[in-house]
Amino acid sequence: MSRYATRVEEMDISGIREVFEAASEDDINLGIGQPDFPTPEHARDAALTAIEEGTVDSYTSNKGIPELREAISTKYERDNGLSVDPDDVIATAGGSEALHIAIEAHVEPGDEVIYPDPGFVAYEQLILLAGGTPKPVPLRDDLTLDPETVEAAITDDTSLFIVNSPANPTGAVQSEADMRAFARLADERDVVCLSDEVYEHIVFDGDHYSPMAFATTDNVVQVNACSKAYSMTGWRLGWVVASSDRIERMLRVHQYVQACASAPAQYAAAAALTGPQDPIEEMVDAFENRRDVLLDGLEDIGLPTPTPEGAFYAMPEVPEGWCEAVLENGVVVVPGEAFGEHGAGYARLSYATGIPELKESLEVMRSVTRTSF
Ligand SMILES: Cc1ncc(COP(=O)(O)O)c(C=O)c1O
Repeated sequence: MSRYATRVEEMDISGIREVFEAASEDDINLGIGQPDFPTPEHARDAALTAIEEGTVDSYTSNKGIPELREAISTKYERDNGLSVDPDDVIATAGGSEALHIAIEAHVEPGDEVIYPDPGFVAYEQLILLAGGTPKPVPLRDDLTLDPETVEAAITDDTSLFIVNSPANPTGAVQSEADMRAFARLADERDVVCLSDEVYEHIVFDGDHYSPMAFATTDNVVQVNACSKAYSMTGWRLGWVVASSDRIERMLRVHQYVQACASAPAQYAAAAALTGPQDPIEEMVDAFENRRDVLLDGLEDIGLPTPTPEGAFYAMPEVPEGWCEAVLENGVVVVPGEAFGEHGAGYARLSYATGIPELKESLEVMRSVTRTSF
């Protein structure tokens, strides 16, 4: 008898970890997938108060405390013009758990699941964990996902496709027309569109659109989180929004794998969502400045880079061996192939680091590119 489950044997440890293991402490790290800002003070205070008052010593309801689900509902009205019933929300352990329960609840063994390649590393692995068949699809030249590519990949076995905007690892932002087309596909082809919107607030050019705003059926399921918007990756607080029927199915998984999201994090998230939103604005302004510094530098070096309109990543086209050479010279970047086969020939650079470090890393990239390629 085999010692481990086949579906787990099919999974991999993320290629990003291998890069971090090869890095030394003094390296400049452009591999990081989290904002380098503090969690807003009022969010921290709300958690501290809840701890001191003893309100967080017990389980919360499986879906999460009513204050948080109300705050999430109000957020949708304020930021997206969407009406979301607080009962149609499950607070989760980060966007990661939200993706997990959404995929578990909708993907049958053998079902095909379409997702962007290059794309967030968890997608393929969560599909495998659910027994699904990963169907990665390539991106346009500007690194956005073309609804026509998704449509062409849909078969009778497809149960779900994933859209991620703004995207990791590309920083690409899907247009309103694309999001309308994704919603139409979900409606007309009767497949679930799983929309991962954890970077929704980090958009520099244009606006963020959710396919949920355009669907006429309940076939769009949305994942979101406080992690990136409020620099709360360590708090582990995300959520999923969908129709009552879909929420009920995802709750079955959440109830047994998680019980409830961490109670102190729920209080912190409610405060982050309802309190002053200026920390987001300050962070997005800083990211935009850094993006411009990085793009100017990359252009100067001669590395073609599609303009990232959101998140905090850029994906220049790089020669073979470039990522390793840059790492050997003290700058950590993630090879594009860590995000899928079609990521080969690119590197993901995160600019969740200060401008002085970015400038220093650009000098290293310049000298490595000039001398070795
Ligand atoms: C596209 C995308 N979705 C989801 C997540 C998971 O976020 P969380 O930290 O909230 O679990 C990440 C984290 O990097 C991400 O990049």
